[in-house]
Amino acid sequence: MRVMLIGGGGREHCLAWKISQSPLLEELICCPGNVGISSLARCLPVKETDLDGLLEVALQEKIEMVVVGPEAPLALGIKDHFAEKGIPVFGPGREGAKLESSKTWAKDLMSACSIPTAAYAVFQEEKEALNYVKKKGVPIVIKADGLAAGKGVTVAKSMEEASIALHNLFTKKVFGDAGKKVVIEDCLEGEEVSVLAVTDGKDIIILPSAQDHKAAWEGDKGPNTGGMGADSPAPVLSKELEQQVREQVFLPLLAGLEQRNIDYKGVIYAGLMVNKGILNVLEFNVRFGDPETQVIIPRLQSDLLELIVAASSGKLSDVSLRWTSDHALCVVLASGGYPAEYKTGYPVSGLETIRKVEKLLVFHAGTAFEKEKVVTAGGRVLNIVGTGSTLKEAYQNAYRGVGMIHFQDLYFRRDIGFKALPSSERMCSK
Ligand SMILES: Nc1ncnc2c1ncn2[C@@H]1O[C@H](COP(=O)(O)OP(=O)(O)O)[C@@H](O)[C@H]1O
Ligand SMILES: [Mg+2]
Repeated sequence: MRVMLIGGGGREHCLAWKISQSPLLEELICCPGNVGISSLARCLPVKETDLDGLLEVALQEKIEMVVVGPEAPLALGIKDHFAEKGIPVFGPGREGAKLESSKTWAKDLMSACSIPTAAYAVFQEEKEALNYVKKKGVPIVIKADGLAAGKGVTVAKSMEEASIALHNLFTKKVFGDAGKKVVIEDCLEGEEVSVLAVTDGKDIIILPSAQDHKAAWEGDKGPNTGGMGADSPAPVLSKELEQQVREQVFLPLLAGLEQRNIDYKGVIYAGLMVNKGILNVLEFNVRFGDPETQVIIPRLQSDLLELIVAASSGKLSDVSLRWTSDHALCVVLASGGYPAEYKTGYPVSGLETIRKVEKLLVFHAGTAFEKEKVVTAGGRVLNIVGTGSTLKEAYQNAYRGVGMIHFQDLYFRRDIGFKALPSSERMCSK
């Protein structure tokens, strides 16, 4: 099978790594790809949002399956665009992608399907929004409706913070049209967990849980990032809770999508808040998570491409997945300063050494080749993934790997996995 993968981050490197192991694969093409992916796939410099450019490549390369990493191409309707030429895309069409691309749409759907989620109201006017916040009090959560690269949400702890957030959205229009509508919702407490599932529209397979670490600094402090690390499985998601996620979230969601004639084949990612055994949905994403993928997929023993093909052709019921009982833990190595300003272009050393170590995987995100040497080229630079039969072992392996990599301004969190790891089992290598 000739497969095209879209994207160029750590998530896509991990997907490329797994797909390239499939006996079904004839050739893997990646647009645009990255340094890590370039040793697994043929990378072509087409932007992920250039749907026409991507379609041209797909036709030329006789692509039989398209796997989309990031949300933007799905929100733009890549599925519908490629369907006109008969090229299957693993993921929802434009309508289904609204689950992620419009928070109001998603909240309205959750509410119509009785999926547990925080109480909310939608506003298109700053004054009304501010009055609502005054009535409700703080803490309160303010969300831009559209895609905002993970920066559109403010958990406001004071009235001042809330009014600044509303002013930024409505008057300064910092997110442009994505902030035309604003969701204001009750602030929930608890522990966050990501649950990803694959569906063919009828059946659903829930993947092992994972926990992201969004905040830039240790102890979940500091600004939100694309994710500083992850571990899987997340102990907070007990067997009973997983059953609840199936019954209270995924099944009603699938029924709701079907009722609206939305053909959804792909990944559904539920971001959940769990508090004393009670779960609420914070948001849905319509694709694999980053960095959750980097800790979930290495634990998958079955063929990922076979799963993707089965889901895309409505035959998910034929598939049963095998998983290792291993734990996996991912530490993101970032450029100092990220998610605010940072410098790039620094040489990365240690990649050769780390490659030879067992139970360690490295997925590239923001790297580039400069005179045949790997240099830093983004905020999140590398993902170091350790595996092991216990969380402690995965944790130790990952941080041992972290100690092997060097570049100027290297920054990482030392507490990935700590929510699940007793303090007696922690150490750090740097
Ligand atoms: N209702 C809520 N209560 C408390 N925290 C929230 C709530 N909604 C979102 N958050 C926090 O904000 C983060 C981002 O919100 P989310 O809805 O996932 O948007 P996005 O990922 O698109 O930025 C969440 O991971 C969570 O930490
Ligand atoms: Mg989120």
